[in-house]
Amino acid sequence: MDYKQLVADTLAPSLTDVLSAEDIYQKIERPKDTSKGDYAFPAFTLAKAMKKAPQQIAADLVAQIDTSHFEKVEVAGPYLNFFLDKSVFSADILGQVMSDGADYGQNEDGNGGNVPIDMSSPNIAKPISMGHLRSTVIGNSIAEILKKNGYTPIKDNHLGDWGTQFGKLIVVYLKWGNEEDVKKDPITNLVKYYVKFHQEDKEHPELDDQAREWFKKLEDGDEEAHHLWSWFRDESLKAFNAIYDKLGVKFDTYNGEAFYNDKMQAVIDDLKAKGLLKESQGAQVVDLSKYDLNPALILKSDGASLYITRDIATAVYRENTYHPAMNLYVVGSEQMYYFQQLKAVLTEMGLPSAKNLHHIPFGLITVDGKKLSTRSGRIILLDVVLDDSIEMAKKQIAAKNPDLPNKDEVAKQVGVGAIIFGDLKNERMNSIDFNLEDQLKFEGETGPYVQYAHARAESILRKAGDVTLLESDAKISDPEAWETLKVLADFPDTVKLALKEFEPSDVAKYAIRLAKAFNKYYAHSKILADDSEKTARLTLVKSVSTVLKEALRLLGVEAPDEM
Ligand code: ARG
Repeated sequence: MDYKQLVADTLAPSLTDVLSAEDIYQKIERPKDTSKGDYAFPAFTLAKAMKKAPQQIAADLVAQIDTSHFEKVEVAGPYLNFFLDKSVFSADILGQVMSDGADYGQNEDGNGGNVPIDMSSPNIAKPISMGHLRSTVIGNSIAEILKKNGYTPIKDNHLGDWGTQFGKLIVVYLKWGNEEDVKKDPITNLVKYYVKFHQEDKEHPELDDQAREWFKKLEDGDEEAHHLWSWFRDESLKAFNAIYDKLGVKFDTYNGEAFYNDKMQAVIDDLKAKGLLKESQGAQVVDLSKYDLNPALILKSDGASLYITRDIATAVYRENTYHPAMNLYVVGSEQMYYFQQLKAVLTEMGLPSAKNLHHIPFGLITVDGKKLSTRSGRIILLDVVLDDSIEMAKKQIAAKNPDLPNKDEVAKQVGVGAIIFGDLKNERMNSIDFNLEDQLKFEGETGPYVQYAHARAESILRKAGDVTLLESDAKISDPEAWETLKVLADFPDTVKLALKEFEPSDVAKYAIRLAKAFNKYYAHSKILADDSEKTARLTLVKSVSTVLKEALRLLGVEAPDEM
């Protein structure tokens, strides 16, 4: 039941001359202070149109409208305050959660439309950075939020698996490398090769020529070059997948940049045919001055393609393959300008999905306030962070609940959940200063805090034993339950808002709000007391558990039943 709509419908007959139904709905507010009612209508906004004092408008309205659906409707200065009937509301909202279960909050706004979501996208032969972690967890959560809104997400890991650096890697590997090392620890050793190349080429400039030759061979499909490239790629991917497994993130495709090599010529021909390519100092560019952007460099003077050339081919491929309802790119904010250029080029080409292209940027991760970079050595390796977090969670569990049966499994859910939640609770554009200890606290706005509220709800239900919960008529009159009930009712709107803003933090903040409200209720109420509302209260507990678990799932965080 949409209570805001109920308020709007109640007001509508008295306001037909001054406001449309839509405008009435828009004006209705949710007072922060619940003693002022559950919904409020600001009568003063009509003073001009109605040529009456705001208090008078409010007083006239309350006399005219049908208040029977509410506990009461009060005039408070220039406002009209609506108080919902608590037992009707609780029966309604709990009935909804109980009958929908995990589907509560699901809507079909997306009509099944395809949404390719470009996410994670680390570079082969380089470590996954914390920035790639953000893209992975933000993208994964947005994919779940898309599904909850009726879309079909396609999670695409646009690996950085092409470029001149592969020529360099091949040169060093053939001269100084060995197979064992790469197999044992691909990323570390491939990075070492890369560093070695740059040490050696200062004294041996001929290495640069060799690297260029090897890259050329790779581009021309030379068997040995291709074999090595593909092996480096596989080994790197194995290392990446170990991290994705820990995070519990899966992809639908891994079409990296190399996948588009044979799809670029068609794009270049199309750009030419549309008269968009212009020569500039021997290179080919698309002029974007009408977008107030610098020209996009599409082909270098030696004919080599660039990052953007591959991205244009990617967008065209996604258009033809998925006919996307939206085209999403979860990539750090340092590429903001780049994505404006990409969108502008695609718009010039007349690609239909260009108008639904959204770059979803996010801020940096710092450690102790400092930026991370490979060069300064300030880089956190993701798998190390995850392992540390799981270890710390293990210690906490050993101290709090030493007899827990599946300790290791739970430690993993808590440790990994803490990292994901610690990231997603921040509005994505904010930068995050990373502190593992803070993220793992059971108190405060953390993943473990929310998981713990869920586990507490499950433990109450276990204690209650065999009760048949109510699918309808779960009437709760206890005012202590009011806040929790109202937060439960907000979930469907939160799901919509989170998608509209591409903001998983809306869901994380919601989960914290629900956990807090429930913990307060739990502290003030005897849930298991034997009285007439006991089953209704347990139904509330079950509903809280269901919605907390579902909110966490939308973030990619698991919810253990016991911890
Ligand atoms: N590999 C790139 C990087 O690590 C990110 C790729 C983002 N996706 C894209 N379609 N451009 O910076």
